[in-house]
Formats: sequence, C-alpha cells, structure tokens
Amino acid sequence: MKRTAESEPGGGGGLCEGRVVAVTGAGRGLGRAHALAYAAEGAKVVVNDLGVGLDGAPAPDSPAAQVVREIRQSGGEAVAHGGDIATSDGAASLVDTAVDTFGRLDTLVNNAGFLRDRMLVNLAEDDWDAVMRVHLKGHFLPLKHAAAYWRAEAKAGRTVTARVVNTTSGAGLLGSVGQGNYSAAKAGILGLTLVAAAELARYGVQVNAIAPAARTRMTEATFAETMAAPTSGGFDAMAPENVSPLVVWLGSGAACAGATGRVFEVEGGRITVMAGWRPGPTVDKAERWTPEGAGSAVRELLERAEAPGGVYGA
Ligand SMILES: NC(=O)c1ccc[n+]([C@@H]2O[C@H](COP(=O)([O-])OP(=O)(O)OC[C@H]3O[C@@H](n4cnc5c(N)ncnc54)[C@H](O)[C@@H]3O)[C@@H](O)[C@H]2O)c1
Repeated sequence: MKRTAESEPGGGGGLCEGRVVAVTGAGRGLGRAHALAYAAEGAKVVVNDLGVGLDGAPAPDSPAAQVVREIRQSGGEAVAHGGDIATSDGAASLVDTAVDTFGRLDTLVNNAGFLRDRMLVNLAEDDWDAVMRVHLKGHFLPLKHAAAYWRAEAKAGRTVTARVVNTTSGAGLLGSVGQGNYSAAKAGILGLTLVAAAELARYGVQVNAIAPAARTRMTEATFAETMAAPTSGGFDAMAPENVSPLVVWLGSGAACAGATGRVFEVEGGRITVMAGWRPGPTVDKAERWTPEGAGSAVRELLERAEAPGGVYGA
C-alpha cells in the first residue's frame, strides 16, 4: 500500500483521517484499490463484498475478509460486510455496520457490480434484470439508507460533511455494443447522481460519479491488449490503483464545494470532467409541425449539430 509518513493509518495527517468510508464491491478490482487507498489516508473502512462471480453467480470465496486483513496488517482499521447491496437489508446493514463499528459514516463509494453481456436480440429478461438490479438498485439502496442517516444527523444539529462517489462507465456515457443492460444501468446512475447531488446538498452531502477504466477481472480478458501491464516497466496506466486517488479526494472533506453533481472519466494519469447533455441547435416555429416539416427541420438541425461520441464497439 502506497502511503507517506503523514498518511500512515492512525498516524494523523491523512486526507481522510477520522472519516468512516463504506466501499461496495471492495473485495477485488477497483473497490479493493479504493478501500486500501482510503485506509492509507487514515479512513476507517467498511469493506463490502458479496463475493460473486463475474456474472453475479454465487462464488465460494469471501474476498472482503482478505482486504480487511490487508488493511489491518498495514496498521489501518477496517471491517468486512458481506451483504448484498442491491437488497434493502444489505444496504441498511452496510450503513449500520459503519455506525455500530466506527460510530459514524462519512463517505459511501458505490462500486459493486457485474456483467451479463449479450447482443439485444439474445439478451434474456433475467440478464436485463440482474444487471439493472446490481448496478442501478445497488446504487440507489445504499445511497437512500446513507442519505437517511445523514439527514437525521443534520436534523440533530450535527455538521455533516458527507460524500458519495458513484461508479458509472463509458458504456453509460456513450453506449457499448453487446452491453444494452449495462449501458442502461450505468446511464441511470448518471441521472441518479444529478438528483442525489441536488436533493442532498442541503444536508451537507456532495455526490459525484466516476467512469473508470482499469485492469480487473471485468476487463482483463475482453480488452487484454489495452489492459496489459507494460512488460518493460514504466507507468502501469491500467492498474486499478490509478483510479483511487480521485475517488479518495472526492470522498474526503477536502473536496471543494463545486465538486458535486459531476462526472469524471478517470484512467491512468488522466482525469476528465464530462460535459453532459446540453441543448444543441434548436428551432421553434411557435406552432405545430407537420411530420414532413419536422423532418426537414431535423435535417437542418443535424447538419449544424456536433456529431455524438461513437458507441463503443460500433
Ligand atoms: N474495470 C473497468 O475498466 C471498469 C470500467 C467501467 C466501469 N467499471 C465499474 O467499476 C466497478 C468495479 O468493477 P471492477 O472492474 O472492479 O469489477 P470486479 O468484478 O473486479 O469487482 C466487482 C466486485 O463487486 C462485487 N459484487 C457484485 N455484486 C455484488 C453485490 N450485489 N453486493 C456486494 N458486492 C457485489 C463482486 O463480488 C466483485 O468483487 C463496477 O461497477 C464496474 O461496472 C469498471
């Protein structure tokens, strides 16, 4: 675990000293990297992971306990939570675990998820439901329970400096062939992030989303070449640890006031603020169009409009 003398757990001076952070799906991949990075900055971490396979099927291991061991061996504080964050009970007990174990919750990182990739014509209803459930409901429920906790804190007169970091994807931003379910769920997370940032600001909660790219079991086979570590040394741009510093800052008390309701693409050493949907060329004739008239207006508008970013895999 990379850390400086100032950011030793318990040593004081870390960016997240005294904060309690819950990370979903933190047993492996990006979530694990985030959990270790928060601990290195002094946070006490609730390491959630259900320990499922790449497609969400039950798997025998419990990777959360291993990450907790790693944090403790480095002198940090962490507790494992093995609940399913896409259930009300799992999401509620995630927040309860933070409060019961460490006395509070300051930051929620929604990260857990899995894939069931198929072209739309082959996409079974169950594959749609499972992916929408784990990503979209799996963001909503922890967010809802954490928000209720923070609202109660604010109403009790305590100062809340809470942060939520959601996890979307390039698939949610631009679409991705073979990932209709995943793209729809990840696009839903963008809308949820905007609403949560607007609704929860009054309680002292800032909410952002990241669209990461990194080498994990989710990507190492499909994008083997892009994700490979350099064989001759040098910067390993696709290491998941490269995504975590931004997640730690967004989840810390240091995140500036304007950092809310935003989406950041993050990969290697690059951080990009995404600009989002904005009105492009427009026309208003102040009366109802005929279908043909609407058609010629759209043809003209499209000529003046910027081309959209390409769908991945198209
Ligand atoms: N790796 C990338 O390049 C990439 C790109 C874009 C978005 N993402 C997103 O980043 C997040 C992390 O992905 P990753 O690449 O680290 O994948 P990963 O498979 O390595 O890790 C995901 C973890 O979530 C856990 N999980 C799944 N369902 C759960 C549930 N219901 N409750 C609790 N835990 C559950 C799994 O057991 C697993 O450990 C995901 O939301 C993914 O969609 C990843």
